[in-house]
Amino acid sequence: MNAFHGKRFVLGVTGGVAAYKAAELARLLVKAGAEVDVVLTAAGSRFVGAVTFQALTGRPVWQSLWDERMDNGMAHIDLTRGAAALLVAPATADFLAKLTHGFADDLLTTLCLARDCPLLVAPAMNRQMWENPATQRNVEQLSADGVIILGPAEGDQACGETGAGRMFEAAELFDDLHAFIQPKLLAGKRVLLTAGPTFEPLDPVRGLTNSSSGKMGFALARACAEAGAEVTLVAGPVALATPRGVTRLDVQTALQMREEVLQNLSGQDVFIAVAAVADYRPRQLEEHKIKKKTVPRTLGLEPNPDILAEVATRADAPFCVGFAAESHDLEKYAEAKRAGKKLGLVVGNLIQDGLGCDTNRVILFDAEGAHPLLLADKATVAGRIVSHLANLLEKLHA
Ligand code: PMT
Repeated sequence: MNAFHGKRFVLGVTGGVAAYKAAELARLLVKAGAEVDVVLTAAGSRFVGAVTFQALTGRPVWQSLWDERMDNGMAHIDLTRGAAALLVAPATADFLAKLTHGFADDLLTTLCLARDCPLLVAPAMNRQMWENPATQRNVEQLSADGVIILGPAEGDQACGETGAGRMFEAAELFDDLHAFIQPKLLAGKRVLLTAGPTFEPLDPVRGLTNSSSGKMGFALARACAEAGAEVTLVAGPVALATPRGVTRLDVQTALQMREEVLQNLSGQDVFIAVAAVADYRPRQLEEHKIKKKTVPRTLGLEPNPDILAEVATRADAPFCVGFAAESHDLEKYAEAKRAGKKLGLVVGNLIQDGLGCDTNRVILFDAEGAHPLLLADKATVAGRIVSHLANLLEKLHA
């Protein structure tokens, strides 16, 4: 189920040009199934009007401490009760200063002070205002007070200058909120993953590869990061954006993938091999493009190392999770891989269910047997794999 479904957020909008991004964020949240109560400051309403937010959220917009629409006149208290979080985006330098010192001279500052839900702020201001020691002091204090600071980003600013102070994009804030509301099942863990295909060159233009898109591995990397893990992702050649908070190392061949995995293995708690690694590579790599007339009719191949098997048999092996992609007899082959490679968990999938597409239907194989999961989008499947993995880790350390 969508993580936002049935959750309510309070979105505070203060006076900055980035208020237009708050409108987009409200739209994304509502589309994902969340309820959004917008609280607009007087300055915020100079940039985007209440009607826009009302139309996007389908709910009344709150602007005044003296609003009479709340039956008990307690909007400044009731709005955050039961909310999953209060996010102020954009948060101006002035607003951060007020927040630091506990001011309560309008609805939004009062709500922040009287809240009983987590508070996140997305700063947005000119780079000099951001770098000013006063702002830096305030942000440090807010952080120490438990306020979560999202950003800011660096780049071109509305004032024409360039530097730190841009508010995160709406999609980035949406991802951050999504991560924020996930249970931190892997807090304190370090997870290393492989994802995507490998490409085994034959000459400068040709090579052997497969149609893994990397979507399953990237979704799992994201789910691990959102569950609080420190994540390193060794990725074959794919055109996917790096999940937020994930360290990505790009490789092309199986040998390079093995090298990066071994280089980054020390201190990892979990290794998850999602990559569809080419089992063979051309025996010879031609320096120049092979001419059409001289392309060999048969290819000399040589086996690639099995990265997962090598990691799993090390004395210092982390908890190892393998994937098994089969075209038939999934249970038989996946269980054989689990036992053969001595893995803590194998995620089995039929190629026709998971390769290249946005959804997957997997069966989890562990020491206790087979646990089939329902067909779902890869983000949802990844979340379920993370829950199962966290349970196994807990049992292991109990
Ligand atoms: O990338 P997508 O389009 O989202 O598709 C997802 C997927 C179908 C590729 C994925 O869900 C999946 O099943 N990945 C494993 C594919 C695979 O190569 O399976 P295998 O049965 O050949 O390998 C078994 C395990 O050993 C895998 O964990 C694999 O990463 C690992 N392996 C295999 C060969 C090798 N040389 N080194 C390895 O580490």
